[in-house]
Formats: sequence, structure tokens, C-alpha cells
Amino acid sequence: MVYRQATWDEPLLKELSKKGRRGYSLPRIDEKIKSKVGDPLKLVPNSMLRNSPPSLPELSEPQIVRHFTRLSQMNFAIDIGMYPLGSCTMKYNPKVSQRIARNPRIANLHPYQDESTIQGTLELLHDLERMLCEITGMDRFSLCPAAGAQGEYVGALITKNYLRDQGLGEKDEMLVPDSAHGTNPSSAAMAGFKVVKIPSSEEGIVTAEAAKKLISKKTAGMMLTVPNTLGIFEREIVEVTKMVHEARGIMYYDGANMNALLGFVRPGDMDFDIVHINVHKTFATPHGGGGPGAGPVGVKDRLKDYLPVPLVSKSELGYKLDYSVSKSIGYIKSFYGNTAVLLRAYCYIMSLGKDGLKIVSEQAILSSNYLLKLLDREAYFTPYSTGHPRMHEFVVSASPLKKKTGINAGDVAKAILDYGMHSPTTYFPLIVPEALMAEPTETETMESLEAYASNVNRISKLASENPKDITDSPKNTSVGRLDEYRASYPSTMILNWNEIGKEMAEAD
Ligand SMILES: Cc1ncc(COP(=O)(O)O)c(C=O)c1O
Repeated sequence: MVYRQATWDEPLLKELSKKGRRGYSLPRIDEKIKSKVGDPLKLVPNSMLRNSPPSLPELSEPQIVRHFTRLSQMNFAIDIGMYPLGSCTMKYNPKVSQRIARNPRIANLHPYQDESTIQGTLELLHDLERMLCEITGMDRFSLCPAAGAQGEYVGALITKNYLRDQGLGEKDEMLVPDSAHGTNPSSAAMAGFKVVKIPSSEEGIVTAEAAKKLISKKTAGMMLTVPNTLGIFEREIVEVTKMVHEARGIMYYDGANMNALLGFVRPGDMDFDIVHINVHKTFATPHGGGGPGAGPVGVKDRLKDYLPVPLVSKSELGYKLDYSVSKSIGYIKSFYGNTAVLLRAYCYIMSLGKDGLKIVSEQAILSSNYLLKLLDREAYFTPYSTGHPRMHEFVVSASPLKKKTGINAGDVAKAILDYGMHSPTTYFPLIVPEALMAEPTETETMESLEAYASNVNRISKLASENPKDITDSPKNTSVGRLDEYRASYPSTMILNWNEIGKEMAEAD
């Protein structure tokens, strides 16, 4: 199938504009009404009338519809093709959840409305909190954090304040594995901790032996992702957790990869003290391009008084936003978090139920292992491969391919775009050279997994036969290969259309 994205070299709306063209027609003002209420224009106070019309493009309705539809097609989305961006859980987002979250009776609520008028929404949020407690084995959740990273920051602040109140303020080291997502060390550092890196073992996990060498009386806690970013279950959790607790530290569970564990194990039962879940990933929300998200944080009973405000509580009088959390770390998000994302999570959990959620994880693991099996082993090698199966995602290294042909992981990722599929995550985790990290999720069919593998394998074959074809890709997307250096540095980024025009004129 030839895939071709919409191109970007179409005129802008202001270039299409023709004086006097309109995209709407308003009915004439009924003379009878006019005679009763007068000229409606006269109802607007003079001070609020414009002297001249606003400078807006003048267009027909189809021109506007086409413009925005074309723009929407210049982006990639899970509704267009497979999107196995590792660690991001880009699963299909059920439309029923979207429909419910967009219901005007929910979507049109105003955050300053009186609580008595939003009882239904508060009830849903309250019930979602109970469900998250059940799923994770924690005692209370704050639904406020707007993303996983913010959840981590909240967890680190709770840890800090709790230890201070216990007279353990001198504990200032947070242990973080070298396979962790970059947000873990960043959140810990933002909360004022020194980050101590734990090296992964040959099996790609945190061992009790490695942890023991680093745990000391300075240890405030450990942030652990399970399964970790290599897609491997941390088999020594119980021993590691015990050691951190003996040192009076806090165990933080990065639940961004919870999609692999639903219904199997609960972080609370594994003795974690604080948990965040990326509900936008595990419980399905369209979240590409940086948002919106939600990263609820759950804690065990002894930490519940530190949660951010407000919580949603229930009394005989109904549901209320509860600001009386005695040692709260305070506000971390305006109003009550990203409610529309939280409600999608509610719908997703309710529509699948307990058994359905377990099947989600089973199938996510199966898809990931099937895709891994189909890949060309000579081109893509599996690091930390000690016979243990991968969970919902896996990481391969394109080092063998690079050595043989010069084509690297970044080139493979660009080339796959030309097949109408999104690339895996590249160059993460940092401990794998030429990393390609794929998370196909449970929502792909066997056929699409097979098609994906066959395209990735076709690219490795082409790398030997015609490497230029690959280094020139992507060719079928709206924009070709970007200059990654210029795209990353503010001083060289082109941020407005006039500058692009100037560049194009100079190039001509
Ligand atoms: C393992 C892990 N931790 C934390 C995060 C951060 O989550 P967010 O992007 O919602 O801030 C991610 C994001 O993908 C992740 O994969």
C-alpha cells in the first residue's frame, strides 16, 4: 500500500482570503422583532463597538473545513495506523469513552460551579478513586496530577515532607535505576533529592545485591518502574523493598507500565508506599503530542494526609471537594486535575470490568512477544536476553544493522513512517545502544503485527541493498527528514511562517 500524508505547501488561510467572501449567512432581522426591540446593533453599548472589522481571513465554509481537515491529516494518530511507540502505550481509544467525556452535561461544566450542581461528576471521580485503589492495592488516591511526571514530583514531595515529619530530614538520596524514564531523576531532583543511579544487572533488572551497595542512612527512597523500560519484570522487588524499608526509606512505584500488570499483581501488595498511574496510557485517552494526561497518585494510609488538595470525599450530604487534608503538599494543578481524561479512564475500566482488564494485560504481553519473535534477529539484537520473556514492550538494538550497513536506529524509525506506521521509541532506554523500543499494545490484530514486522525487516534488507533509499526517508510524509540539531535548539528553531517563507526564497 502506498502511504502518502497531506502536504504542507498549500496556501495559508490568509493567502486564500478574498474580500467579501463569507462562510455563513445570517437570517435578516425580522421587521416585527425590530419594531418591538429596536435595532439589535443599538443594543450594544457604543464603547464596545469596533471602529473597523477585525483583520480575519474571509473564506467560504468548505475552504475552512478543507484547511483544518488537511492539517489534521498531517499528523499521525492511532486511528490512522499502528503506533507502537514504546513506553507510551498508544492503544486504540474506545470511542464510547470519548462520547461520554464529551457529553455536554459533563464537558460544559464550569470549574467554579457550586458543588451541589456537580454531584454526578464528583460521584464518578470518587468511584474512580475507589477503583484505582482496588486495582493497585493502595488506600487513597489524588486524581489531581496532570501527567505521570507530575505524579512523580508529587510522590517525591510527599516522601520529603513525610521524612521531615519523622525527624529523618537528613535523608536526601533517591535511588533510581539506570533504565528509568528520564522523568524519574528529574522529579526527584526537582524535589531537592540527590539522585543515586542503580546499575542494571546483566539480566536488565535491579538486584538486591546492587541495591544493598547503595542503600544507606541517607536513602530517602527508591523509584522503581515495573515492568521496567526494558519490558522486564523486576524479579527482586520483594528483597529490594524490604531493604529500603529497613533503611526507613519510601518505595515509589512508577506505574506508567501498569498496562502489563492489570489483574496480576498490585504494587500495594508488593509493599510500595506511593504509586502513580498514567491513566492516559493504561486506561486509554488520546494523548499524542504531549497531552492531555492524568497521573493520579496513590498512597498507603500512613501517607494519605500528605496528598495534594482537593480530594473528593463522600458524606451524608453528598460528594465534596475536600481541602481538609492536614499535611497536604498543597495544590499542584488548577481545580481538580484533567477531569475529562479521568472520566475516560472511568468509562474504560467500567466497560472492561475486572476480567476484561486482565485480558488487556495478557494480550499486551502476547502482542509484544509475538512482534519480537517476528523481527530479523541478524539486524536487531535483543539485549539483556537471559531467557526471560518480555512483558508488554521490548527493546532491541539496531547495532548489528549499523555495523553491517551504516543504517542506525534513527534511520529505521524514519523509514517505517513511509509505510503509514509510527516508529518505535528510539535511543531509550539509554543503557541500550541504537535502541528501538516497541510497545504494540493489546489493540493490534495479528495481521497488523505481522505487517509491522515485515516492514521493519524489509528496511533491514534494503539497508544492505540501497542504504540511500533509507537515509532519504521519510518521503511520503508531510515533512521529510528534519534537521534534528536545528529543531532542538531555540536559537536555530524557526517558529513563524514569515521566517519559513524567507528561508524558502533564499533556497530558490
Ligand atoms: C516509565 C515511564 N515513567 C514516567 C513517564 C512519564 O509520564 P508522562 O509522560 O505522563 O509525564 C513515562 C512516559 O511515557 C514512562 O514511560
